[in-house]
Amino acid sequence: MEFQAKWIRTSEDTGGVCPVFRKGWKTEKKVERAILYLTALGVYEAHLNGKRVGNYVLAPGWTAYDKRLQYQEYDITDLVGKENELTVTLGKGWFRSPMPGWQDTPDKLQRMGRPGGILGEIHIVYMDGSEEVIVTDQSWIWGESRIRFSEIYDGEFCDDTFVTKEWNTVKEFAWSKEILIPQEGEEIREQEVVTAKSVFRTPAGEMVVDFGQEITGYVEFTVDAHAGDRIHILHGEVLDAEGNFYNANYRSAKAEINYICNEGTQTWHPALTFFGFRYLLLDEFPGEATPEQFRGIAVYSNIRKTGEIRTSDPALNQLISNIFWGQRGNFLDVPTDCPQRDERLGWTGDAQVFTKTASYNFDVERFFTKWLHDLAADQMENGAVGHVVPDYLVGGNASAAWADAATICPWQIYQTYGNPQILKDQFASMKKWVDYVTSHTTTPYLWTGGEHFGDWLGLDAPQGSYKGSSREDFIASAFYAHSTELVIKAGRVIGEDVKAYEALHEKIVETFRNTYPEYGTQTEHILAVQFGLAEDCQKTADALAQMIRNDGCQMRTGFVGTPYILHVLSNYGYTDLAYTLLCRKEYPSWLYAVGKGATTIWEHWDGIMENGEFWSTDMNSFNHYAYGSVADWIYEQAAGIRVVEEYPGFEKVRIHPKPGTQLEWLGASIETRHGKISSRWTHTDGAIRYEIVTPVPAQIVIGKKEIKVEPGTYVFWE
Ligand code: BGC
Repeated sequence: MEFQAKWIRTSEDTGGVCPVFRKGWKTEKKVERAILYLTALGVYEAHLNGKRVGNYVLAPGWTAYDKRLQYQEYDITDLVGKENELTVTLGKGWFRSPMPGWQDTPDKLQRMGRPGGILGEIHIVYMDGSEEVIVTDQSWIWGESRIRFSEIYDGEFCDDTFVTKEWNTVKEFAWSKEILIPQEGEEIREQEVVTAKSVFRTPAGEMVVDFGQEITGYVEFTVDAHAGDRIHILHGEVLDAEGNFYNANYRSAKAEINYICNEGTQTWHPALTFFGFRYLLLDEFPGEATPEQFRGIAVYSNIRKTGEIRTSDPALNQLISNIFWGQRGNFLDVPTDCPQRDERLGWTGDAQVFTKTASYNFDVERFFTKWLHDLAADQMENGAVGHVVPDYLVGGNASAAWADAATICPWQIYQTYGNPQILKDQFASMKKWVDYVTSHTTTPYLWTGGEHFGDWLGLDAPQGSYKGSSREDFIASAFYAHSTELVIKAGRVIGEDVKAYEALHEKIVETFRNTYPEYGTQTEHILAVQFGLAEDCQKTADALAQMIRNDGCQMRTGFVGTPYILHVLSNYGYTDLAYTLLCRKEYPSWLYAVGKGATTIWEHWDGIMENGEFWSTDMNSFNHYAYGSVADWIYEQAAGIRVVEEYPGFEKVRIHPKPGTQLEWLGASIETRHGKISSRWTHTDGAIRYEIVTPVPAQIVIGKKEIKVEPGTYVFWE
């Protein structure tokens, strides 16, 4: 749509204070239809005649703002009357944020210093057929709002006693309108409401609220107070070894709420920022706090839950719950690494490893489509893909397994939902990424040189390093092969000529085999098999299994190897070992954190060590979804529900459940574009009962038997 509106902003700098923009108008005519189009450089909340417009939180969302800025469309027909007043409160949001928190890049300083503003139009059609368009322009006024400060990392400060007395004329200013696009992703909404489980005093004497679940969003509190009473709240994910409040792991993010009360009973929540938290420290709070006063509101993109996993093991069920909550907490418009510390960035590697699980758990097609468009928009001229998207790190450097999100994510979204549009949209970006590696490597047909994150946080990392022991060139070359293969597959689907990439892939595989005849680490074995690079995959998987056993049935993998380890094992006859790893309760394992009370997925296998101490304050998030990618093994291998590559979107399905002796029963289902597919097995009296429901033609494999079936419900015994 063509906007006639002008960008408007405050006539003077308000510092941290959030301005409110205002427009009033009158009409005698009856309204048939009224639509508000609105966007901002920052995040906004609009009210018309005192009523909130729409349900979008943190609108207009987060995109590669220099190239793409979403505007929202609201039907306000029911809100307009004879006398109208529209107010729009503007926060700094991601647009003017100090992201990342740990370094002052020129880009960040420029971002923090640029002006915020809004742009909008109201289109009214009257019953008499006449039309009116009200646009943001010089006729609007602005004042300071009661939100005295709001920012993504540091939180929000509301002075509820503040009344805007001074109104000034806005300033029109020049900013691109070319970048405006209609809402593309899912709206960000308030979702689950979690009631506080308890309010207690810690050994250090602090007053703490516990929600019993880590969420991302904000707290809404109700308080009976006197005008001028102060509230100061800090957020935390865990308690320390002594049971005291702890949030040193938020690093420089203050994540605090300040509130000055009005007289009487009042209910308030922040609206222009968000927090990742399970605990609140009530540093200042009037009266004796009770749980009923606090409601934790989860805020995330409006993705629909499509996956379900249930097992006979309560610990495993808690892990599944943690994976779902990890996704909710990090799918706030952009797939982020974590929601609490001074990062909250769209780390490409984290998104890449989790995309498959994410796409089974929830319908994330729109969510990823938007983010991948941003990835392409922020991709550099030379093809480099940043570590984070939107690219707030702008280093110009690209890391293997992170930048490969450019190929892996679109292919997975296509596989899960069956819509080739995503491949058409991303194909140029996918190719550009592979071409970048081709032109930047120091060794033809491998990827050597460059700076990489390696097998990030691998358990086999040398002392003092975040990177596992797998060779960086090995990982980079393996992903080079994989991404090239995905370009070929994608190109074939959409009818592109991929001959050059086929030849390239052959060469990469050949060179890889000659260069790396032996594998050193678990992750090296895993990648060689998973990406079809090993000369003899069975032999390599055998060696991997042996290695894991020699290691006392422990994983040594990090971000790169972990998502594939169980798949490689069960694809090559080691399902039992895969279950042993999955069901292991001692450190290091998925269930170790569950035993320590985790309610989301930890960044570190030993975020809280056996002695109750933290492994570090620096890199220790308790809501980092990456290792939650194990859920796709449960869907695809334990329950056996697999998309057939040539029939994406589950138009046909292959169901090959692989029961484990460690569990009595397990069931999983995915609501696909063609209906709900479910698979459940139960050990009963020495036999196994399978129940499979398929809405599409399926190839079912039970043990060694393989049958083709039409849609229906099937029971098998083995
Ligand atoms: C983030 C990760 C990310 C990594 C890159 C960290 O600080 O939290 O999840 O992938 O940096 O190595």
